[in-house]
Amino acid sequence: MKLSTEIERKIDTLLAQMTLAEKIGQLAQYTNGAELTGPEGEPVDLNRLARDGAVGSVLNYTGVADTKKIQDIAVNESRLGIPLMFGYDVIHGYKTGFPIPLAQAASWNMELIEKSEQIAAREASAAGVNWAFTPMLDIARDPRWGRVIEGAGEDTYLGSRIATARVRGLQGDNPAAKDRVLACAKHYVGYGAAQAGRDYFTCDLTERTLREVYLPPFQAAVTAGVGSIMPAFNEIDGVPMTANKTLIKDVLIDEFGFNGCLVSDWTAVHELVAHGVAANDKEAATLAINAGVDIDMCSGSYSKYLAELVAEGAVEEAVIDDSVRRVLRSKFALNLFELPHKNTDLELERRVVEAPEHFEFSRQLARECIVLLKNQNALLPLAKDITSIAVVGPFADSKQDACGAWRAQTDSNKAVTVLAGVRAAVGNNTVVTYAAGCSAEHKDLSELATAVQAVEQSDIAIVVLGEFADSSGEAACLTDLNFSGGQGELIRAVHATGKPVVLVVQSGRPFTIAWEVENIPAIIQAWHLGSRAGNAVADVLFGDFNPCGKLPMTMPRSIGQVPIFYNCKNTGRPFDADNKYCSKYLDSPNTPLYPFGFGLSYSRFDYSNLRLSSPEMAIDDIITVSVDVTNNSSRTGKEVVQLYIHDLVASITRPVMELKGFQKIELTASEWKTIVFEISATMLEFYGADMQKIVEAGEFTVFLGGSSQECLQTNFILK
Ligand code: NOJ
Repeated sequence: MKLSTEIERKIDTLLAQMTLAEKIGQLAQYTNGAELTGPEGEPVDLNRLARDGAVGSVLNYTGVADTKKIQDIAVNESRLGIPLMFGYDVIHGYKTGFPIPLAQAASWNMELIEKSEQIAAREASAAGVNWAFTPMLDIARDPRWGRVIEGAGEDTYLGSRIATARVRGLQGDNPAAKDRVLACAKHYVGYGAAQAGRDYFTCDLTERTLREVYLPPFQAAVTAGVGSIMPAFNEIDGVPMTANKTLIKDVLIDEFGFNGCLVSDWTAVHELVAHGVAANDKEAATLAINAGVDIDMCSGSYSKYLAELVAEGAVEEAVIDDSVRRVLRSKFALNLFELPHKNTDLELERRVVEAPEHFEFSRQLARECIVLLKNQNALLPLAKDITSIAVVGPFADSKQDACGAWRAQTDSNKAVTVLAGVRAAVGNNTVVTYAAGCSAEHKDLSELATAVQAVEQSDIAIVVLGEFADSSGEAACLTDLNFSGGQGELIRAVHATGKPVVLVVQSGRPFTIAWEVENIPAIIQAWHLGSRAGNAVADVLFGDFNPCGKLPMTMPRSIGQVPIFYNCKNTGRPFDADNKYCSKYLDSPNTPLYPFGFGLSYSRFDYSNLRLSSPEMAIDDIITVSVDVTNNSSRTGKEVVQLYIHDLVASITRPVMELKGFQKIELTASEWKTIVFEISATMLEFYGADMQKIVEAGEFTVFLGGSSQECLQTNFILK
């Protein structure tokens, strides 16, 4: 965020007029209580606080009817008339529901992801929200952790590219624009490494892993100009992030150059007491403000104790001033002093929110997110004039679950389920029969026979299994990644009919579906795809859209393999089938069910002619690596060409491969293209023993292909 010197002067002038109480007010944030996205706290009278200048921002206020009322109080009735910021978790669309962020990552389509945020920002700001608590940039390697749905998956490079796209989509060139909002990168940092995949649990990360894996997406967001950042709930190396001065001040602010504001997570200041680093809320407030956490979300500790702490000398007023300055900067960046309401027009809100083209876009994005996992004997796509189809499964007609967790204002009544999508896609002569078949909650199999009968009387079965929307997301972790309730019995019973079966997996995370992969001929990973989920799935099932999604997270064979991710280290005893004393399991292969970057298409893409512009490169050189990709099919299709690099010998062990680039291309039937990537020394950098970035001469392998496991490879030497 760059602000003019004139604005910096205005901030100084305003700050000089503020009493200590008014300054502290800017650092307090409360929820309106209508929508709780964290534990319920003491009720507050927000109108009174706004009038007294004792609150600087609020969350979970939506709709211009409400935002206008309280903003008018802040602007017209408080002594200094400082406007409020309105924060909200706009995670995958505001009211028009888009696919969950993990699904969006499977599109590997930066343009579409950016556009989804642009539309979410347009809807949110038309509804009075000016600050979106998104994007979530936590790298996630453990599908037990429910919050994998909110991020970009396991890879740092893909996650960093998506971070940039999301910040741009939300803020545009200028968050002050009427249809943009301030973004908030979260959760800084390491939150995805929660031990045992249990939300809020301890994270134990080395500085190397932190820097190599978890920090880069945040740095990318800072480079893209993100306006705010939310420290995570977890601790790093014994210091909770809400009190982590080193990672906030030294790394985020001094090293990365972040100059926006920091907002704590919900009651995270108070939680420093439970962490055991503060004896009480007063100490917690001291630690958090001194660490650089500007805004206290919902704990009330700043409001209660900061004045006392300044009087006692435990917190310098200059520290408060710095934080207030950062909050005011955000408000100026949003142009709230000139235009405290981006919109007050209910009619405009109605027109913009859920505009028909937003739903159309949701479908367009959703179908790019679908990953075709298996398609034996080209069972898919299905013919639209098929005589009869049985659509079965407890999620086949569940609108709410199609929308996914963290739905913001998405109206699930307007969602299209797979059943509705299939019905809309087929002709009048096709009989579509539906049966839930089982419950996903209990082992209630009383409806199994009805489903089996429906399948027996049809030409084909489409089985929709998965998880409830709210089985993933915050505080929604699992120890079992098999389908819940009677779903396992249902798919086995349907399979036993001998009819062709297509399995649609509707989940917020990778599930362990080894039996299904072994037995069911066609499988698509359809995530929680938002308002137009069912249309998007039908587009793929019936071939109106050629699937092109690629997994942003490795799919494990069993939960025992978790955490599993492609860019692991080789170890001193890598896998060797003939050797007991190597790194492997006795009861499972090391390899995943499906690797990172995997996804089929109805087209067949062949890779050939991998070549380097030179087998050697000097440190300030750029060489290119090229490959010919041919669409050996009669259909136009999209492919994600992925570039990975491995440093063979280095002073510090390096991952077996790391994603360093990708291009999503489209090829018409039989078309081929040469795809070229540049390789520069910065792509070969890593942190040396002294934690400074270095590049070491030596041999590197470069891999190009359509997934992390199917690549052509060649070597070059860095001189
Ligand atoms: C807690 C979540 O961790 C965070 O992501 C969210 O923004 C806040 N609650 C506010 O709802």
